[in-house]
Amino acid sequence: MKESQQRMMQHSEVKIRLLRLYLEQYLNILSSSQYIGDVNVYDLFCGEGIYENEGKGSPVVILEIIQKIFLTNKENGKRSDKINCLFNDIEKSKIEKLRSEIENRKLHEPESGNLIFSQIDYRTLLPNVIREINRFNKEKGFVFIDPYGYKEIKLIDIKKLMQANKAEVLLFLPTQFMFRFETKGTPECLIDFIQDIMPVEQWPASETGIDFIESLTDAFRVSMGDEYFVDSFIISRDKNQFFCLFFFTSHIYGFDRMLHAKWKIDEEEGRGWQYQSENSLFNQVEKTANTYKFEKKLINFLSTDRSNREVYEYTLHNGHLPVHTNEILLKLQTDGNLTATLADGKAARKSAFYLNYQAWKDEPRKLKLKIK
Ligand SMILES: C[S@@+](CC[C@H](N)C(=O)[O-])C[C@H]1O[C@@H](n2cnc3c(N)ncnc32)[C@H](O)[C@@H]1O
Repeated sequence: MKESQQRMMQHSEVKIRLLRLYLEQYLNILSSSQYIGDVNVYDLFCGEGIYENEGKGSPVVILEIIQKIFLTNKENGKRSDKINCLFNDIEKSKIEKLRSEIENRKLHEPESGNLIFSQIDYRTLLPNVIREINRFNKEKGFVFIDPYGYKEIKLIDIKKLMQANKAEVLLFLPTQFMFRFETKGTPECLIDFIQDIMPVEQWPASETGIDFIESLTDAFRVSMGDEYFVDSFIISRDKNQFFCLFFFTSHIYGFDRMLHAKWKIDEEEGRGWQYQSENSLFNQVEKTANTYKFEKKLINFLSTDRSNREVYEYTLHNGHLPVHTNEILLKLQTDGNLTATLADGKAARKSAFYLNYQAWKDEPRKLKLKIK
């Protein structure tokens, strides 16, 4: 067994940290909504729960979050909907270890929801999970897919998990291995994987692991279509080794919250948004490639009239936050290159762009934006 499979490596720690952040956000959003019933969490490649070096795996993190929500609600006299979990791993011994860790560490309150363990191949289990999710009424699902490789993973399955708009998916992919393969003669399973998303001939060659992740994210976005939101979170191990978590949802508000969580970590790790306008003391070299790319795309998007609702959606679809778009728009406006018109035809107040979830919902056509 590889060392990384036994001991928790650094990239796994970041992965688990993100899972915690995403799931905390997700469950808190859901638990504050009165329209949602039970939540079912599916951890389909769950592992053994605790690693040899005491590192926590996904099932332990999931149960800790559920326990915290349950106990907080209980303390405040609030009723909680149930949060049920299904933990699956093909290795029986791992599931046995997980069961005993949960018991010894008292990680589960029976009143908080059901626990189901299973020991079957992901591909065999998946149709059952898809069927169950598609039968949900008020319930919601969160699916965590964390394989060692990628040969079992198909985008079509993710689409099926999400087709009823009842579930979100968090997918970890070892993109660095995929990229290495891409540069050294593509193996059959990578071709299959790409073919599932787009015609292989159209797949762009990537110069770096990051390029590969960007291409994959773009391809996922195009393939999923406008009704779904997709974002990627890059995890770096060494300087040149990149792994990636992909997040899929159809809920714009949940996605907005997730992006905030992601950008917060990016900022802490020095990969945050650094918008530098052309006239500032710093020149374009200072701009991160990501920032510059988005600015160009946005300007292009605004070559025709766009409502605040459309610009908000466009921002999120591109994995950016409204504050980023606001900065770009303000610069364009200050330079006299942007028109912002209210519904009654009058010019809008400077720097008011109404790019947020509330305006998206309540005042979607408050204003029109266009490049002059
Ligand atoms: C990357 S590890 C999961 C780590 C875990 N999510 C965590 O956070 O600790 C992948 C797991 O998938 C299991 N596995 C491998 N192939 C599988 C399959 N076809 N179906 C289900 N589980 C599988 C392995 O036994 C292993 O525990």
